[in-house]
Amino acid sequence: MDTAEIRRRFVAHFEAAGHTAVPSASLLVPDPTLLFVNAGMVPFKPYFLGQETPPYPRATSVQKCIRTPDIEDVGKTTRHGTFFEMCGNFSFGDYFKQGAIELAWELVTKPVADGGFGLEESRLHPSVLAGDDEALALWCKVTGLPESRIVKLGPKENYWSMGVPGPGGPCSEILYDRGPAYGPDADWAAMGTDMDPALEDRYLEIWNLVFMQDELSEVRSKSDFDISGSLPKKNIDTGMGLERVAFLLQGRENMYEIDVMFPVIQRAEELTGKRYGADAGDDVRMRVVADHVRSSMMLIGDGVTPGNEGRGYVLRRLLRRAVRSMRLLGYADPALPELMPVSRDRMGETYTDLVTDWERIARVAYNEEQVFRQTLATGTTIFDTAAAQVRDSGGSSLSGSQAFTLHDTYGFPIDLTLEMASEKGLEVDEAGFRGLMAEQRERAKADARAKRGKHADTGVYRGLLDASGPTEWLAYDTLRTESTVLAVLREGAAVDALGAGEVGELVLDRTPFYAESGGQAADAGTMAWDGGAVEVLDVQRPVRGLVVHQVRVTDGELRAGTPLVAQVDPQWRLGARQAHSGTHVVHAALREVLGPSALQSGSYNRPGYLRLDYGWTTALSPEQLHAVEEVSNAALREDLPVSSQYMTLEEAKEWGAIALFGETYDNSAVRVVEIGGPWSRELCGGTHVDHASQVGTVVLTSESSVGSGSRRVEALVGLEGYAYLAKERDLVGQLTSMLKVQPDQLPTRVADVVERLRTTEKELERLRLQQLLGSAADLVAGAEDVAGVSFVGTVASGAAGNDVRTLALDVRGRLPGDRPGVAAVIGEAKGRPSLVVAVNEAGQAAGVSASDLVRAGSEQLGGKGGGKADVAQGGGTDPTKADDAIAAIRRALAQR
Ligand code: ALA
Repeated sequence: MDTAEIRRRFVAHFEAAGHTAVPSASLLVPDPTLLFVNAGMVPFKPYFLGQETPPYPRATSVQKCIRTPDIEDVGKTTRHGTFFEMCGNFSFGDYFKQGAIELAWELVTKPVADGGFGLEESRLHPSVLAGDDEALALWCKVTGLPESRIVKLGPKENYWSMGVPGPGGPCSEILYDRGPAYGPDADWAAMGTDMDPALEDRYLEIWNLVFMQDELSEVRSKSDFDISGSLPKKNIDTGMGLERVAFLLQGRENMYEIDVMFPVIQRAEELTGKRYGADAGDDVRMRVVADHVRSSMMLIGDGVTPGNEGRGYVLRRLLRRAVRSMRLLGYADPALPELMPVSRDRMGETYTDLVTDWERIARVAYNEEQVFRQTLATGTTIFDTAAAQVRDSGGSSLSGSQAFTLHDTYGFPIDLTLEMASEKGLEVDEAGFRGLMAEQRERAKADARAKRGKHADTGVYRGLLDASGPTEWLAYDTLRTESTVLAVLREGAAVDALGAGEVGELVLDRTPFYAESGGQAADAGTMAWDGGAVEVLDVQRPVRGLVVHQVRVTDGELRAGTPLVAQVDPQWRLGARQAHSGTHVVHAALREVLGPSALQSGSYNRPGYLRLDYGWTTALSPEQLHAVEEVSNAALREDLPVSSQYMTLEEAKEWGAIALFGETYDNSAVRVVEIGGPWSRELCGGTHVDHASQVGTVVLTSESSVGSGSRRVEALVGLEGYAYLAKERDLVGQLTSMLKVQPDQLPTRVADVVERLRTTEKELERLRLQQLLGSAADLVAGAEDVAGVSFVGTVASGAAGNDVRTLALDVRGRLPGDRPGVAAVIGEAKGRPSLVVAVNEAGQAAGVSASDLVRAGSEQLGGKGGGKADVAQGGGTDPTKADDAIAAIRRALAQR
């Protein structure tokens, strides 16, 4: 049964049982506790926690997931992939344990001919959390199995949570016995409540039914967590591994061999000439390739670009490990252009965006491979240098920190370092390397913990939402409301009042203020009441439905219950509307100039200013930049109408509206903002102008890179755009009057001035040197006799760098060759003295050493020096000691 059919049967089974089929959400969720969606329940989390009312009591989905805690183990076991699809059914306070058990059992055991998966009952072993007698009794009742077939396991296996504070509950897993070829017979009664690892391959977990009933405040490990209370309702969350069921039903050994993954392995076989199944090490590499190519494609599809932290780093590792594995398999040419299209052809049947957005996805992936190939080239040089150092110092092992630097700075994976070291007969301090890696991981974890803390803080806002309901939000309708203060907070806790000068947070029953979202900055404004006023500093929506204003009391005392007038600054809002509409205009213009795959990945706008990040790998040429600006301003000139309307997500997509990566939308009512009809259609909750001309002007001010595969343009709009241009005009004005030319002659004139300056400087340099060398004859004429040596010691102020050496050598050459002679010259560059001593052959024969003399001189200058017996050079830090240094050299010469 192919994967598509398993997926179809799963959804059909639950739809027939009254569940609403919900499409997979993006892999990126705006949940600060998660890097990626890692379970089918993630998009429904607010329903379980009671933060939002679910629009349906039952749902089913096949959700894209990424789990990356053990990337290194991929390919080594049969069942762990970084990307996988989780089939799930969900009940939000509707059916509970019995319903979940009945529905799951029916689907897995129903004959294939009747639409089920047809798994033999004799091979199925349900498990329960030890002590969950209710579930135990239900399994026996529903399945007719004897109690001895039900496995009782501890919380490590059979209590499920997200690994962070949030919902959780006891669970039941359905294990499938693959037979004696995969491990020993289980003796459940004798095993105790921890799953014996020796049994895991044979008794494969295919489905996890979570009886979601608890709220967890702290999760330290799978079996160590704090339950802070019950969820508002008893829910069901299940997860069936699509790949696992597929490899069982397809009679394959592991998830990498199923219909949607194996073609990539086959392509790798063709490219490398290796045969899958011939060598255990190569097999692991091919499975890594199949997994990583698919995962990275799915991540790029959802808008992730390679980077050095967070999600981008995960993607970078996956792509690089895939490329690296191909190299280890003996394929050194660019591999992704050969492999990724194979994965797209299989996954694209379900995820059609992969096909329509292919150009962008391929560009990001192939570009990263190219960058990595360069890294390998540079890293190899760094590696060779490090290896040579080890050799020269008589060692035989690369240090942990060398290996870590190669890894951390040059992206050189440790296995590559190990392999290359062994080729050179060297070892690597792997323990030291792992230690440094562990320290780095600790730092990362500490960061994650700091993030998690924020989650808990939303508790107080949720309390407010529960107590008084959502804020009536009037930002689209008015700039001014008469409102009542529902709550006052200071440092996150409710207080009775805020005094003059204090900063705190306010919740109103209704507000005209726009809370920061969708890239648009929060509104500015004021609130006033009989006897006082506040200035609004920030506006946020920490939980959906609740608007929180951060304010400073400018006058009087603010108490909960006070009626007041909330007033958005109209100038500010006009600026915000211009900037947000300007962002859409620039986005549409970019796509017109570069093509539809130039998609926005992030944006920020406030009155007068906007910036927009988009997926693209190369810099805009000046011509493209001009074109984008021109298309943008032509849209303003045409005064394209701006409108917004609500529709379902489905309708919006059909309309071609652009949904942004990582945003979640309410499927039943999304807002689509149009500028000029189909020219620009985006899902957006922001405030906009009514007509494009109201944006005033769009002036692009910069174009830059923000990490690999992502570029940024910045622009000014409205009066700020005008002010920017006016300032440039003034600058041009100053230059034209200074240079006395017309504006369009400026570039030629400036180029001319620069050229003349360069020629003059060169000429000056030549003259200076001539003058300096011209002094050599005079210097030689004034040579002293120091203990039988002709000595010239001079401070040539103005001589720098090579001049010092040239002069010293010149003087030496002019000294009589038949008797010992020494020239010592001190110059100065950038405030630091430099010294060169040159000794002629007769001097060297008489035992005079330039390097000894330089040392004596440099010591006075506060530095060091050295060289050979004939010429040596040195320097120091204190140019005022130049004469002392000459004197010291003279002394050293006399005393030798
Ligand atoms: N949320 C459960 C899991 O991920 C079903 O296993």
